[in-house]
Amino acid sequence: MSTGALPGFRDFYPEQFAQRAWLFERWRDVARRFGFVEYDGPPLEPLDLYTKKSGDEIVGQLYNFEDKGGRQVALRPEMTPTVARMVAARANALRKPVRWFSIPQLFRYERQQKGRLREHFQLNVDIFGESDVAADAELLAVACEIMRACGLGPDDVVARVSDRRLLTALVRGAGVADEAIPAVFAAVDKIERESQDALVKKMTDGGVPASAAGRVLELVRASDVEQLRTEYAGDGEVIAALERFDAYAELLGAHGVRDYLRLDLTIVRGLAYYTGIVFELFDAKGEFRAVCGGGRYDNLLAALGGVDMPALGFGLGDVVLGELLKARGKMPSGAAAIEFWVAPVETTHRLSAIEVARRLRADGLSVEYPLKAQTLSKQLKAAQAAGARRVVFVGDAFLERGEVEVKDFATGQQQASTLHLLALRAQEHA
Ligand code: HAM
Repeated sequence: MSTGALPGFRDFYPEQFAQRAWLFERWRDVARRFGFVEYDGPPLEPLDLYTKKSGDEIVGQLYNFEDKGGRQVALRPEMTPTVARMVAARANALRKPVRWFSIPQLFRYERQQKGRLREHFQLNVDIFGESDVAADAELLAVACEIMRACGLGPDDVVARVSDRRLLTALVRGAGVADEAIPAVFAAVDKIERESQDALVKKMTDGGVPASAAGRVLELVRASDVEQLRTEYAGDGEVIAALERFDAYAELLGAHGVRDYLRLDLTIVRGLAYYTGIVFELFDAKGEFRAVCGGGRYDNLLAALGGVDMPALGFGLGDVVLGELLKARGKMPSGAAAIEFWVAPVETTHRLSAIEVARRLRADGLSVEYPLKAQTLSKQLKAAQAAGARRVVFVGDAFLERGEVEVKDFATGQQQASTLHLLALRAQEHA
């Protein structure tokens, strides 16, 4: 038997687990500050939850099988269908707008590559029941504030934003019939990965006139708001979408995250259900895949649960963000740390050492002591390996006067102390 995990799956040894916990703490803290509440759903869902609305790409990556009851099921590859189903089921009872977040582990049988594994954790932040563009801005502000909480500013990360309604209007203006629009989205979604000829072919195969195909690619590549405003001055749909984008940018200014924003019509999102403003966050140097992606999906609840409720959200994965933070030296090492190593000076002090450890632990401090008899020099090495900040020597003074000697590794200082004082000081430093 191999001792390794399956390809694309990770073992979280304590260092990696600590880094994951560090990320999750930041995610939860920002979500909480924005008034979002946490939920979860089942990791296994009926297969047709995904085959109906997520689109071919994700359906091709499903971990699906027949369960012992003959049901067709799949491990969740994304959270959106689950949360849409859950909200639709209680649509009337929930206070609107619904502001929910979750950190599910997701499973996709992907071709393994940098930034893509077969499982990942994904923060999902979603708002239900609000169609105002202020909700779109609030959502992107959450994502940007998370970047900030991880130490990534607008020089490190850009939010590339588009609006499927704007793209639809432009494409219609270029003479593309509505039935052919999905082919345009599919081609634009691959604009950075496929050749011009392949993109044009994708579109013409889907019913887009060849002349329009070239023009659409030019327009999205330029992503020039002012050019669009002049060129499409007479097109109400385009102008309305541009005005919405202006309002969005203004709102993001008030949120203090305007500098992250960039209009980029090449962003359409691979998932089929998006209907409005869509976005992806990338590292500013363009070295990594998307850190985060999301947008408005106003029709999904109607499709899955028969409830007409606008919705929007994003998914932010732990893999790319982790790679980016490590590359920029912004990820803590994840090395273990405890507050105290309690060292019995002689073997005869072992029970006293356990009592000291117990009392410090009762005060909420993290404490280790040797589980077998060890010389003091071995203990000091063990204490450092355990990441202890201080060593508490327990000897005769403890038995006589309740006193211990405390050595601080950072300052090198050593002094006598009572347990009470020690706990107080440690809590002050925590
Ligand atoms: P997505 O673009 O498929 O969107 O995934 C969002 C993010 O999850 C990606 O930007 C990436 O960071 C991460 N991610 C996705 N697949 C993998 C993978 N195989 N390995 C590592 N990381 C990955 C969604 O899933 C939408 N359901 C998000 C959403 C929520 N939209 C609305 N609400």
